[in-house]
Amino acid sequence: MVKVTIDGIEIEVPEGTTILNAARMIGGKVVPPAMCYYSKLKTTGGYCRTCLVKVAAGSAKDPRPMPKLVVSCSTTVQDGMVVLSSTSPEVAEARKGVVEFLLINHPLDCPICDQAGECKLQDLGYEHGLAKTRYEFPRRTFEKEDIGDKIKLHMTRCILCYRCVKVGEQLTPKRVHGVMNRGDVAEISTFVQNNIDNEFSGNMIDVCPVGALTDKTFRFKSRVWYTKPMDAHRDCKKCSGKVALWMKGEEVLRVTARKDANNEAIDFICNECRFDKKNASDWVIEKPTHIDRHSVISANHYEKEEQLKLGKFTDHKMIEKEAPKLPAPKTKK
Ligand code: SF4
Ligand code: FES
Repeated sequence: MVKVTIDGIEIEVPEGTTILNAARMIGGKVVPPAMCYYSKLKTTGGYCRTCLVKVAAGSAKDPRPMPKLVVSCSTTVQDGMVVLSSTSPEVAEARKGVVEFLLINHPLDCPICDQAGECKLQDLGYEHGLAKTRYEFPRRTFEKEDIGDKIKLHMTRCILCYRCVKVGEQLTPKRVHGVMNRGDVAEISTFVQNNIDNEFSGNMIDVCPVGALTDKTFRFKSRVWYTKPMDAHRDCKKCSGKVALWMKGEEVLRVTARKDANNEAIDFICNECRFDKKNASDWVIEKPTHIDRHSVISANHYEKEEQLKLGKFTDHKMIEKEAPKLPAPKTKK
């Protein structure tokens, strides 16, 4: 075991742990954002640079600081290492630069994007983004493409994090898509128009941190914050059958994997569960899915409403008390 201190919090972790995973063990605002690393997929990380941190002391043996910021998803901790994440103005400035860079080509089409409310780039933009871009050249644009019969690719929104490529490589028997070309013409596409047609391809949608890969069976059906996510399961021979159902009333609008605190799928699910089981009667519904209070999704009180139905809360005043505080709207004088 080795000891590492991140933002003043000391933790003991197994040797070989990355700074990012050590920060995840601590949790909270210490955890650097990660747009490309995905703990359940091998060889992810190192593409997006959003997880930069400052190493103020390299190790107990050699306490010199590292000369440059490092990517926390692929730098392992050393005994006695001191790391600054949320407390370093230098890191905040660097993350701001990375967000500006990611947004150079990414369209600001959140009002019509199905990922709005769940998009990690949207969250990063709010936290670290500039109000306007300094980029003066035309943005890259691409035609929308079908990646298989159930997935729509908006390449203009892609940040080339490679997560979907790793899903194709590691969860499906035959990878038929990848990053074509290099530089500013690099794009995700299928080889010679091959469609993606295999049982676990839908997981590409769940791992995509932005709205580049969306579920064609859910597109434009509802803003995600008007739905209520419910944990549910079914007896499935291909996957664990443990999912989140995104419901409107009794209607199932979308089925996704359940996500953990780092927004990663707990279990990858099969396409039959995701696309073909859209009746509430196909599922054993367990309880409301817990969504972080800071998310816009939890602002519709679905969790408390369901608990109210189950008799946990006795009146709506208790729901109001628990509700996230939204900023008061600005009024013009
Ligand atoms: S389509 Fe999504 S998951 Fe795939 S590389 Fe682009 S941003 Fe990443
Ligand atoms: S999460 Fe570390 S470089 Fe992308």
